[in-house]
Amino acid sequence: MDATAITDSGTSRSAASITLQDVGKTYPDGTVAVGDFSLEVRAGELTVLIGPSGCGKSTILRMINRLIEPTRGTILLDGQDILKRNPVELRRHIGYVIQNVGLFPHQKIGANIGTVPKLLGWDSARVKARTEELLELVGLDPAKYRDRYPHELSGGQRQRVGVARALAADPLVLLMDEPFSAVDPIARGRLQEEFLKLQAEVRKTIVMVTHDIDEAVRLGDRIAVLAEGGKLQQFAPPAELLSRPSSAGVASFVGADRGIRRLAVTPVRDALQPSDGLQAGDRPTVDITGTLHDALAAMLTVDSAEVIVVEDGRPVGTVSRSAIFDTPAPAEA
Ligand SMILES: Nc1ncnc2c1ncn2[C@@H]1O[C@H](COP(=O)(O)OP(=O)(O)OP(=O)(O)O)[C@@H](O)[C@H]1O
Ligand SMILES: [Mg+2]
Repeated sequence: MDATAITDSGTSRSAASITLQDVGKTYPDGTVAVGDFSLEVRAGELTVLIGPSGCGKSTILRMINRLIEPTRGTILLDGQDILKRNPVELRRHIGYVIQNVGLFPHQKIGANIGTVPKLLGWDSARVKARTEELLELVGLDPAKYRDRYPHELSGGQRQRVGVARALAADPLVLLMDEPFSAVDPIARGRLQEEFLKLQAEVRKTIVMVTHDIDEAVRLGDRIAVLAEGGKLQQFAPPAELLSRPSSAGVASFVGADRGIRRLAVTPVRDALQPSDGLQAGDRPTVDITGTLHDALAAMLTVDSAEVIVVEDGRPVGTVSRSAIFDTPAPAEA
């Protein structure tokens, strides 16, 4: 994407890459929140930052939109140095979802979502149309929710409004700091699912912070595991992180059950033994879009040694128990 796409009309339809080069932040009291951090965030991907409390995740996120100024290093947005840009103007192209959402309490939901488009000078009809479109996108009926105040929504609904607001001016980048932390595990699972669908549609460059390894594995295209002082331990797609952790520290961080987690991110396709003339009969089936976790679950349910894989309802091959155990993690994309 070229610089001309970053216009004050806020109508860019692209996502931007983010490059952090030797970035560091030492707070005035001498705390080295981030020592020397480098990362390449690809355009249109969701990158997760995960690591122990206080390791510098929020600091990194906030340096990307210049809410915090780095004390060293360079940050590039599509190759352009963000430190050379006006921070206020920069932030209009970066959606930011903070923990606890941060909606304006005295403004209605519609006004909350329309904040940045209004700042960008969109006319009111366009702001209204965009607000309705976004409410639909995050699964909230505009007629019902547009004129409510934030306190009249549930926590999960507020988080959706937070996401809608961050997407409002079609930003180049979305920064999300523990966006789903305030909801219970069931609502959280649903929000994550909706969010994956949303991302499949909008394909934003997203940097998301979480404490939850399951959330990281489920949502992330790539996961950066950090240690104290913003030290990058490993940066890899979920399946690779789970099957080949780079150190004992990362292995223990991703958990003793990482082998089971890995099955959930390995496609059935990778273990498929194709064959013709299969009849599903009463053997368990799994869809070709499923994972090895789905295949194993189906086998265990009926105590079978293999499952039939179906595509568009037709059998295309099998996955055996041994194939599940022998299938390596997907290679790096
Ligand atoms: N304004 C500040 N002045 C001094 N130190 C700070 C300041 N803000 C943050 N820190 C310190 O910088 C370090 C990194 O903080 P940061 O908020 O980035 O951590 P985090 O990884 O987001 O943690 P958490 O998971 O708990 O949110 C911490 O040790 C924190 O105490
Ligand atoms: Mg934080």
